[in-house]
Amino acid sequence: MNVILVTGASRGLGAATARILLEMGAAVVLTARSAGALDALAGQADPGGERSLVVPADVADESACQKVIAAAIERFGQLDGLVNNAGVLQPVAALGDADPAQWRQNIAVNLLGPYYLIHHALPHLRAGRGRVINVSTGAAINPAPGWSAYSVAKAAVNMLARVLAEEAPEVVSLAVRPGVVDTAMQETIREEGAAGMPAERHRRFVRLHEQGDLLPPELPGRALAALALHAPPAWSGEFLSWDDPKVAALVTRHTA
Ligand SMILES: NC(=O)c1ccc[n+]([C@@H]2O[C@H](COP(=O)([O-])OP(=O)(O)OC[C@H]3O[C@@H](n4cnc5c(N)ncnc54)[C@H](OP(=O)(O)O)[C@@H]3O)[C@@H](O)[C@H]2O)c1
Repeated sequence: MNVILVTGASRGLGAATARILLEMGAAVVLTARSAGALDALAGQADPGGERSLVVPADVADESACQKVIAAAIERFGQLDGLVNNAGVLQPVAALGDADPAQWRQNIAVNLLGPYYLIHHALPHLRAGRGRVINVSTGAAINPAPGWSAYSVAKAAVNMLARVLAEEAPEVVSLAVRPGVVDTAMQETIREEGAAGMPAERHRRFVRLHEQGDLLPPELPGRALAALALHAPPAWSGEFLSWDDPKVAALVTRHTA
């Protein structure tokens, strides 16, 4: 049985990914700060608790990340996959206006969290020829005015995925953009973007919501789950879109 750790599993894309992984028969370690939401998800998706483990943690805290990995190994004896999904968008403000403490916190969650978890999980991932799926964004490769910390952190995460692919050929390491997904992060864009983003860019996200064009989290969540379980070594180091045809083929092959 594959054991997959999903960060940011309390809501949104991470919750959908964790639920789908459980449906696909994996054992799942769920982490985020909101213990109640994690317990509720695990209780619903794995009522007997045989294949789920809830470990509340703040990914910006290195010792907390180390404890999550230790708890996963203590419970399941192995770790085959890490989905680095936890993320924050804020500050939503131009560089000169953004609060430096919030900027620092963004980097801590979006970049240092994935790094800490990879660092502490690596011996286990190497042993099991496992996979790391880093949830990224189009803003990692296209400058996003108003989201400087977020874009910078995610660009660095893309490079983290590439360096890991070079250093650890026995591990499959990817960065994946999930599309524009109907989650709390999109609410933040709609609510805070009017003040902190260029007006046309903000309107584009408001329109996507109004027109019902945001993706349900289950669609990219299914892609992340299939990648965490089945991404082939030949893809290691790539930055993939959730709906890349080869990802879609992988999803069909493994979830049909
Ligand atoms: N939604 C989109 O359109 C979109 C587009 C591109 C990329 N993404 C990426 O998709 C991923 C998931 O985002 P989402 O849209 O599902 O947003 P979301 O609904 O806001 O979920 C964010 C998750 O991250 C967790 N989290 C935040 N800070 C944390 C911390 N310090 N420690 C541990 N967990 C933390 C949250 O849990 P707690 O608050 O319980 O800790 C929550 O589970 C993010 O990496 C985001 O950048 C989203």
